[in-house]
Amino acid sequence: MDLQLLRRLVEVPGVSGHEERVAGLIRESVGGLLDDMGNVRAGNGKVLFVAHMDEVGLLVTHVDSEGKVRFRKVGGVPDQALPSQHVVVHGEADIPGVIGVEPPHFSKTDKQDLYIDVGASSPEEAAELGVTPFSPVTFLKAFREVGKYLSSRAMDDRVGCWILMEAYKRAPDAAYAWTVQEEVGLVGAKALARSADVRAAIIVDTLACCNPSITGNVRPGGGPVLRVFDNYGPYPRKLASRIAEIARMHDIPIQVGGGGGGTDAAAFQQAGVPAIAIGIPNKYAHSSVEMVHVDDLRNTLRLVITLASEL
Ligand code: CO
Repeated sequence: MDLQLLRRLVEVPGVSGHEERVAGLIRESVGGLLDDMGNVRAGNGKVLFVAHMDEVGLLVTHVDSEGKVRFRKVGGVPDQALPSQHVVVHGEADIPGVIGVEPPHFSKTDKQDLYIDVGASSPEEAAELGVTPFSPVTFLKAFREVGKYLSSRAMDDRVGCWILMEAYKRAPDAAYAWTVQEEVGLVGAKALARSADVRAAIIVDTLACCNPSITGNVRPGGGPVLRVFDNYGPYPRKLASRIAEIARMHDIPIQVGGGGGGTDAAAFQQAGVPAIAIGIPNKYAHSSVEMVHVDDLRNTLRLVITLASEL
């Protein structure tokens, strides 16, 4: 596995609506064309594999009179994941910043005032550094191997992007798409679903793992998860059984489970294209320490390559 490419892909910033640098890296590595929405498309075939390029993050709203950079969230960032974080403001330059936390030395206030500190004490100083309103902000990424896992912010869904890139190199006779703005409403996929002339769409994304009352009995390391149900409803049983059968024939371990939230699969389903997501179990989803199991990456790649020729 080319972990160097995966690492580069994870580290490049791409908050929803600002996926250009991810798209650039994908096109530089495997080619592909941009559509009007900013989605990248490559290959040709009646089965389309989809992964989303964007990541959850923050957006600068304004800088207050004390030079504190104020922000709002883009996508589902857990509140607990905000304090004590290193961030990067992507303004006129990539500007380092931090979101502080109140020290234990002071009496606790109920609600902490959260802001990005870029080391500026006035709006002018922040502007000089290159902070501009509506700049996207990412959390600093520490890509590390942790036991048999890989950990970093933005594993969701750069691991999916990476699997599609590797699959496209080996199985170019299928269609591949890397979408924008999944985390804010499946926006890129909705546009793609309207124009894609395919008989099925297979979405490769991470799966927030694991809570048995939502996901069923799935676990990291147990194989890619066929996501048969999520907050958008059920996915086609016929397609699911066919995928399970192909996996069985090739001795690729898979799990059957459900997901909270949704994926780009919902956009295709609602446009009348049978679709299902293959989920890579992801511990601590949407935090700065997302973790995916190396075996799941390997088996998901095998599954995608196999499906590309046999589905
Ligand atoms: Co995702």
